[in-house]
Amino acid sequence: MLKNDLLLKAAKGENTERIPIWLMRQAGRILPEYRAVRSSVNGFKELVKNPELICEVTIQPVDILEVDAAIIFSDILVIPEAMGLNYEMIESKGPFFPKTITQAQDVAQLTTDVIPNLQYVFESIQLTKKTLNNRVPLIGFAGAPWTIFSYMIEGKGSKTFSQAKKMLYTNPVLSHQLLEKITTATIAYLQEQIRCGADIVQVFDSWAGVLSKAQYVEFALPYMQRISAAISDVPVILFAKDAHYILSEFGQTNCSVIGLDWTIDPLKARLEAPTKTLQGNLDPCVLYADVDTIKKEAEKMLQQFGNHRYICNLGHGVYPDVDFEKVKYFINVVKNFKG
Ligand code: CP3
Repeated sequence: MLKNDLLLKAAKGENTERIPIWLMRQAGRILPEYRAVRSSVNGFKELVKNPELICEVTIQPVDILEVDAAIIFSDILVIPEAMGLNYEMIESKGPFFPKTITQAQDVAQLTTDVIPNLQYVFESIQLTKKTLNNRVPLIGFAGAPWTIFSYMIEGKGSKTFSQAKKMLYTNPVLSHQLLEKITTATIAYLQEQIRCGADIVQVFDSWAGVLSKAQYVEFALPYMQRISAAISDVPVILFAKDAHYILSEFGQTNCSVIGLDWTIDPLKARLEAPTKTLQGNLDPCVLYADVDTIKKEAEKMLQQFGNHRYICNLGHGVYPDVDFEKVKYFINVVKNFKG
């Protein structure tokens, strides 16, 4: 059915005629066309709740960058909001939650019945899927329970996430109650995204790197396992940034793909999770370099991963101030790679 199904084939472990590529944060400020849409609305949240505009900005990178997949334009923070914790997106600063979770009563007040509150995402997926007309697969996504928990406790971004970690150490029972609720909501959310047309889903554990292995095993892994096990209709990508220590455990889950950041050696990752497709992992800063350096670094990476069971991506989201011509150049290097 799909005209370009390279991503899905690679995710399922099938051979592909070339390596598929998409980029985290491909829809966003690197594209002048995105910035034009963004400045036509009053703020990020107005954009995120408008299915016509979501459809437009989701498809922009497919047209302009010619990536092998679209990722629905949204944010991981729509889940805390749907559970009852409203967020604000402060211009050039990032997310802010006026109310955070501090005690049992706050957790008790959260709802897991999130589907009615997320209709704008599902409408956006349906419209985007229809407009894409099967050109490329559509990626759905959600934040991982630990990363969502971090924002709900901390109320904003942080270098250390010390308040969120404090909750793990001082109130592990309440922490698990909150993580359970987030997981229940996230599974329902991802399943509904799939029902509405998502062909594959990625779970972003952006702040995994602040946890020790023991903490990850206790407070994050069981929920990643539950999410992977609950989704059987489409492939699942698990991406836990900076979490070198968890690759072999991810290798034992039901997921199809493991996303990697640039601090992880591709050959080592292959040894740790030999049955999974790997995704990543170019340092986004390489795209600031001259084209010869970009080509050299990209080809070194492609050689290390090889062209089987591999999806090319960056090791984290593309930075907004990168020249999009460099992004296009990188994508073409990958598409022309002959292994
Ligand atoms: O192209 C895509 O990848 C799809 C869109 C997408 C956004 N956020 C749009 C966005 C995705 C997949 C996300 C996920 C997300 N959001 C994560 C996980 C991925 C990661 O980067 O680790 C996290 C941690 C967030 C939380 C978040 N949202 C932050 C910290 C910020 C502010 C930082 C920034 O980049 O400005 C956002 C805002 C946000 N989400 C923007 C975009 C395009 C920028 C705001 C704008 O355009 O006004």
